[in-house]
Amino acid sequence: MSRKIVPLSPEEIKKMKAACRLAARSLEHVGSFVRAGVTTNELDQIVHDYNLTHGAKPATLGYHGYPKSCCTSINEVVCHGLPDETVLKDGDIINVDVTSLLDGFFGDCSATFFVGEVSDAARDLVEVARLARDKGIEEVRPGALTGDIGFATDKFVSRRGYSTVKEIGGHGIGRTFHDEPFVPAFGKKGRGELLVPWHCITVEPMVNQGVAAFVEFEIPNSSIKYYKTSDNKLSAQFEHTVLITDTGHEILTLP
Ligand code: MF3
Ligand code: CO
Ligand code: CO
Repeated sequence: MSRKIVPLSPEEIKKMKAACRLAARSLEHVGSFVRAGVTTNELDQIVHDYNLTHGAKPATLGYHGYPKSCCTSINEVVCHGLPDETVLKDGDIINVDVTSLLDGFFGDCSATFFVGEVSDAARDLVEVARLARDKGIEEVRPGALTGDIGFATDKFVSRRGYSTVKEIGGHGIGRTFHDEPFVPAFGKKGRGELLVPWHCITVEPMVNQGVAAFVEFEIPNSSIKYYKTSDNKLSAQFEHTVLITDTGHEILTLP
């Protein structure tokens, strides 16, 4: 049985917008430090300090035991990559996923960055992942269903020769980090859960260069897992938090 979604009040929407703007600015800030030679722990520290300096908390820190302030998913890592002493090298792609908790509200966004010069194949995958997210967002309006988002996303991705991850996806968000509904990157038109005005969701398709299948890995002392593509080919992702309005949507995680 799904929980009843309570629409945000105008006051709550203001707070949600502030949290999302801060998440987007954190992401933009950390993105400017992505280059060969930097460790993912250094990127994590940058996200941590930026959020604290701006009166927010990095929401992943301590979330189900997750020990870091962001996720850093390099190359074949699909999502939830754990920052560590790994050094970025020329040609890598890295998704940085930042969630800020500000004044009781969560803002969640991610982007995949290039480390130096990347292959044409990597560049194409990353572009498709970004456009796939945007195709999904185009479907967001009151009365639409989560399957409409997934259908548009998967159609676009498969036409470009890539695959979407099925079991992991977007989510409702607001006063709760991971709320209802689940927002899949595949689906059928007219199926799934109803989008209701003045609720927020994330759209965050994971796009794989090869097969959709992935393998999971434990994170010590945490119930959160991280994932790699089962064929070790590349995976890319972009995420926005989006407000469902009375007529359509508004992307909130813009800097
Ligand atoms: N930000 C991720 C998402 O988009 C969730 C990360 S939870 C963590 O939903 F524990 F892995 F950090
Ligand atoms: Co998310
Ligand atoms: Co995220």
